[in-house]
Amino acid sequence: NSIDSGSFTWASPSNIALVKYWGKKEHQIPENPSISFTLNNCKTTTTVSFSKKEINTGFSFEVFLDGEQKEDFKPKIETFFKRVEVYLPFLNAYHFKIETSNTFPHSSGIASSASGMSALALCLMSIEKELSTDVSEQDFIKKASFLARLGSGSACRSLEGDLVVWGTHDEIKGSSDLFGVKYPYDVHQNFKNYQDTILLVDKGEKQVSSTVGHNLMHGHPFAQERFKQANSNLSQMVSILKNGDLDQFIALVESEALTLHAMMMTSMPYFILMKPNTLEIINKIWNYRKQKGSNVCFTLDAGANVHVLYPQNETASVLEFIKNELVAYCQNGQYICDVIGLGANKL
Ligand code: PMV
Repeated sequence: NSIDSGSFTWASPSNIALVKYWGKKEHQIPENPSISFTLNNCKTTTTVSFSKKEINTGFSFEVFLDGEQKEDFKPKIETFFKRVEVYLPFLNAYHFKIETSNTFPHSSGIASSASGMSALALCLMSIEKELSTDVSEQDFIKKASFLARLGSGSACRSLEGDLVVWGTHDEIKGSSDLFGVKYPYDVHQNFKNYQDTILLVDKGEKQVSSTVGHNLMHGHPFAQERFKQANSNLSQMVSILKNGDLDQFIALVESEALTLHAMMMTSMPYFILMKPNTLEIINKIWNYRKQKGSNVCFTLDAGANVHVLYPQNETASVLEFIKNELVAYCQNGQYICDVIGLGANKL
């Protein structure tokens, strides 16, 4: 090929699952389908510069976070490169400089794997498109999502908005275990511009990596029931998204979050990933909802931080509530205001 060098930049957001992915088979195939809101403000911007190498001796790349070289990011990217090499034949022929930065504070406990891996996958797809084939817009996103999945499962849900499904499900047209698809059906006005304020309860090192967590579902006594439940919850979510029933939405989303944590508490070895402040916040949210007739609810990832979800028309009152009653439980009073977004952008 005649192209010697170039560079591409993509910004890609994080996402928050409503029906959770927890448990995977080989090759990053999920045990159950999941659906997530794409976020808007929590994102990673990545530039990949490529230049032709003289000799093809394995992968050659360097990684920078906020301008500083990051040796400790290399093993994860090396693993990713190995997994996607067959789909991106040019990986061996070039040297890559990967420069990345996040909008959210470094080691805030907000997982950067979804935004980071999707941004990287998109940059690599841009190179692929430049070097070889004419890829249609639709195939471009599909393959980028496919590649992102091989970096970090949930990353395949970060490319588009505002809702993305990953994992084959009978009722969702086009759904696949191999990549995320934009939610194909009607979504009620109640969910437009839905808000997500992320309360940073604990910024410490993750107690359990998601890889270890997914593996704990192998031979887990409740695994098969959980996978069935996720399928039926996704079916329910389809009707909730259509009819706009916020009570049902809240019940389903909170139950999914607690079930994810219940899986970790009932695995061997077992883990409690919530902190005392996580529970304080959950109770405050329940009290507030009851007292005010609010539609605020919570969800959790595999950690102690709390995502506070609420409809746009409650933004002012819920933010007031968060400032008055919940910020006290956040580490250094830190929280991030986000809203449902539309996916990744090429810069
Ligand atoms: O993408 P991973 O392997 O880091 O797994 C993420 C799993 C959860 O965030 C806990 C749930 C989900 O569906 O995003």
